[in-house]
Amino acid sequence: PKRLGILTSGGDCPGLNAAIRAVVSHATLTYGWEVLGIPYATEGLLERKAVALNVHGLDMRGIDPMLSTGGTILGSINRGPTEAHAADIIAGYHALELDALIAIGGDGSLAILSQLARQGNWNLVGIPKTIDNDVALTECSIGFDTAVNTLVDALHKLSYTAASHDRVMVLETMGRTAGHLALRGGIAGGADVILMPEIPYSIEAVCRQISELRDRWGHKFAIVLVAEGAKTLSGESREYRDAQGEIRLRGIGEYVTDEICRCTNNGIEARVSVLGHVQRGGIPSAFDRVLASVLGKGAVDLVAQDQFAQMVVWQNGGVRSVSLGEVCARSPRLVTPEGDLVQTARALGIYVGELD
Ligand code: F6P
Repeated sequence: PKRLGILTSGGDCPGLNAAIRAVVSHATLTYGWEVLGIPYATEGLLERKAVALNVHGLDMRGIDPMLSTGGTILGSINRGPTEAHAADIIAGYHALELDALIAIGGDGSLAILSQLARQGNWNLVGIPKTIDNDVALTECSIGFDTAVNTLVDALHKLSYTAASHDRVMVLETMGRTAGHLALRGGIAGGADVILMPEIPYSIEAVCRQISELRDRWGHKFAIVLVAEGAKTLSGESREYRDAQGEIRLRGIGEYVTDEICRCTNNGIEARVSVLGHVQRGGIPSAFDRVLASVLGKGAVDLVAQDQFAQMVVWQNGGVRSVSLGEVCARSPRLVTPEGDLVQTARALGIYVGELD
């Protein structure tokens, strides 16, 4: 029987535990392998730490918390290892006598682990996860669906307080260099404006949209969703001087809110919320649990077939595998400005950037 290692790397997200559960269940029940959980990704390998993972016995009452809990029972790190540690991390894999390693990670983590695997002759299989949904060659990554639902819930709540006070509510989302989270969440949550990195925006167009909603349609409030990586058409400076004269950098949500007030000569009352890491937590959605289960099972099957340097992906309604090298070369996967989602948002009257 094989000895399989599993780790979670990069920013956490809902569904990681469901993926670990699927890997442990399939590897032990179907193949009779031993599964070792590596804590804190490469740090666990560096310190040669591993815990035996058992499908049963996690809870005395037989309740399985793995399917429905957020975070990762293995812990994770969101920074790459230093060059100096690479040799020790590689040696850690061999010291643990692993036949293969399954890594659940985003594009950054998987690129680092692929490089270590090439250098250290590891058998590596990747599973994509990220609330940003920007891993190439997979239509969805674990955690994205739950994060979209969290965002939609926040938009729903914000719209009531916005409507009560006739305000503009600006909500800043995560997503790094990709706008998938903002675009999907904005369409589902009824945003009036969606700003994202792939399509530069103009603040004047944002204000026109807000005025038009008032003047033409009688909407006295508006919801502006801005992804953390959004950019203006003209290039903005988010620097400002604080009370002590120190130069500081405003967050994009704060910047957009200030600019809306400035452009409308403070004729509009605007407030900002930053959703931040709330999007990374929570109970995984049914979709994420299913995705985590099928990708976890698929990753174990790849190990059984001795297919390494591969990542399991979701494409055209099924599980496939693709080369990890190709995934890393193509990531991040960004929003297509001419795609159906952007066109749909525009058709629904949402301002999604450009025009001026
Ligand atoms: O990649 C996931 C993500 O949540 C991004 O959306 C965000 O930019 C980043 O991670 C935040 O990272 P950290 O957890 O290090 O603050």
